[in-house]
Amino acid sequence: VTRTVTELKLRGILDSRARVTVEAELTINGTHTGLGSAPRAIAPGRLERRRGPDVTLGSVESPALRQAFCGHDINGQRDCDALLDEIGSVGEAGADLTLAVSLAYARAVAASQAKPLYRYLSGLLNGLMDTVPKLPGLMVNVFSGGIHLDGPTAGFQQVMVLPATGTLIDDIRLASDVFAAAQRMTEQRFGQVGLSASSGLLVPLDSVGQLELAASAIVAAGGSTACTLGVDVAAEHLAAGPGRYRFGSQELDSTAFARRLAEFATRYPLSYIEDPFDPADIAGWRQLRSMVTMAISLVGDDLFATDAERIDADLADGVLLKLSQAGTVTATLRAAAAARSAGMLIAVSHRSGETEDTAMCDLAAAVGADLIKVGGPRRGDRLAKYNQLLRLAEHVDGWRSPDPSMTELKGTP
Ligand code: PGA
Ligand code: ZN
Repeated sequence: VTRTVTELKLRGILDSRARVTVEAELTINGTHTGLGSAPRAIAPGRLERRRGPDVTLGSVESPALRQAFCGHDINGQRDCDALLDEIGSVGEAGADLTLAVSLAYARAVAASQAKPLYRYLSGLLNGLMDTVPKLPGLMVNVFSGGIHLDGPTAGFQQVMVLPATGTLIDDIRLASDVFAAAQRMTEQRFGQVGLSASSGLLVPLDSVGQLELAASAIVAAGGSTACTLGVDVAAEHLAAGPGRYRFGSQELDSTAFARRLAEFATRYPLSYIEDPFDPADIAGWRQLRSMVTMAISLVGDDLFATDAERIDADLADGVLLKLSQAGTVTATLRAAAAARSAGMLIAVSHRSGETEDTAMCDLAAAVGADLIKVGGPRRGDRLAKYNQLLRLAEHVDGWRSPDPSMTELKGTP
């Protein structure tokens, strides 16, 4: 089948912080149209592909994209994404534009094949990796901190609850109960609290206070036997020079910071630590692995920047997969395949500024991701993701055997 791109529209739309990001609308053969949009981070990692210049609301012009796509036959996602890479590499489109177009193309072709997006993406994995689509486990943002909180102390960017009841529906229910309990408990202490861009609670507490409260919220919601906690340290944003980190009112070297994190892992039911060190602090990464049990997954976000070439199982247990870091669907799938072939865990992730696009949920199902994080269960941009996962649960395997590490962590706190 020939697939001629008969129309490509680009427009600036709002993200969850009301900043402008880009949406693409692409039509093939005059018959099937797909939409795709790019999320927007508050502060992208140092190693990730760059967004283009800011766009404004409404129609956006990109002569380079228009010329490459409109009226041309583009016969597959790989060709589409190779073209986008080329345009990106000469600086004529940032990762936001290339991702929007890549997703719009994916949806247009999926529609022409009458396939749901996850099944189309799963088909693209042929030859890259062997997977059966399945639903990921959830990581639900309860507290936001670090650069997401305008507070005085340097702390974790996210404290998350990881429910593991065995079914998606019960996981969503339990995580919502934990979130509601955390909100109730903070409001009793501090009055009304706000929500961050990713719908985490913004509380005047340092990371230790947040961990304490999250652990209590799990107990209050009756989730002690089915929930663990996870943190996104986002250490790149805490760096105070090579191998030095600001944490609370202290400045710690790599070893002291690793010890601190390892101590948290014994005091709280932690099962997940993301970006505990700056990407350049290789010694830090190796050090922490030897200090915490294997029941805790150390995952690289800013460390690998969703780049297949950077993925290295000697540095971390898992890879955070962000479409907007990779810049195209194909580059994201390559990173997923690299993670899997290295035997690493895959966690698909939102950005701090999200649109209502739910492609990341289909991606997680297609690659059989272990985990997904989509923010707190509040407001439309986040609920759109939870709701898409509920729809996907009707198509793909939603049952998991409970995480074996749970037995070990059970009963704490
Ligand atoms: P971001 O990160 O602020 O770079 O989008 C969000 C995350 O890692 O959860
Ligand atoms: Zn992160």
